[in-house]
Amino acid sequence: MKIAILTGAGVSAESGLGTFRDKDGLWTRYDLNEVATPEGFARNPALVHDFYNARRANCAGATPNAAHTALAQLAQSAHEVTLITQNVDDLHARAGSPDVIHMHGQLMRALCAVCAARWDAPLKMDPADACPSCGQAATRPDIVWFGEVPYAMDTIMDAVGTADLFVAIGTSAEVYPAAGLVELAKGQTLEINLEPSARANAFDDHLFGPATKVVPAWVATLC
Ligand code: OAD
Repeated sequence: MKIAILTGAGVSAESGLGTFRDKDGLWTRYDLNEVATPEGFARNPALVHDFYNARRANCAGATPNAAHTALAQLAQSAHEVTLITQNVDDLHARAGSPDVIHMHGQLMRALCAVCAARWDAPLKMDPADACPSCGQAATRPDIVWFGEVPYAMDTIMDAVGTADLFVAIGTSAEVYPAAGLVELAKGQTLEINLEPSARANAFDDHLFGPATKVVPAWVATLC
């Protein structure tokens, strides 16, 4: 079976990485306009780097959980799996999932705002860092900010549109275009989340509960 999976922050919540919109979520404590937009970065790059440096440190100290591991097992099964994530952590890859599509970028990668070179981010980025390619001090985390276009949209839309099964896991479905992918699905659709998301009505089936319990149980039914 051809399976397209979209994950969000709920998949990494039980690894200790915060979600965005839950109680105590990142966007209840930080102004996203200041730390997650190109305009915020232009105003105060040091503040933005501090925000992502802290998240990078959290990510480096976290380990994949049973949901990440189960999805990696599914990728090794006979099913043809495309794993799309909104998460900027690297826990899917560390659990063993190959070819993860990071539609919102990656904390562990850096991007030059001048020449678009990309490289592995140091644990701490600084506005004074020079791009290893062009030498300009214009380095930023390789994160897709609000107002920017998510990565690999053609590949993602093709994978979702041709899948026999589309599954969204641990996402509130508040952010587009990710939240609209379910509309492209022509096969069965399944939402796995703690609670119904903003787009719950668009899905055929639902499994509610913590990802570390529900995802391994669901994968076990397919492998
Ligand atoms: P949100 O924080 O908006 O939503 C997380 C979802 O996960 C919620 O629906 C929770 O109910 C659910 N959840 C929490 N803990 C869970 C658990 N243990 N098991 C299963 N589900 C759980 O995060 P996203 O939907 O990923 O973008 O947010 C989408 C985008 O908004 C992010 O990629 C980020 C953010 O702004 C950018 O920064 C560009």
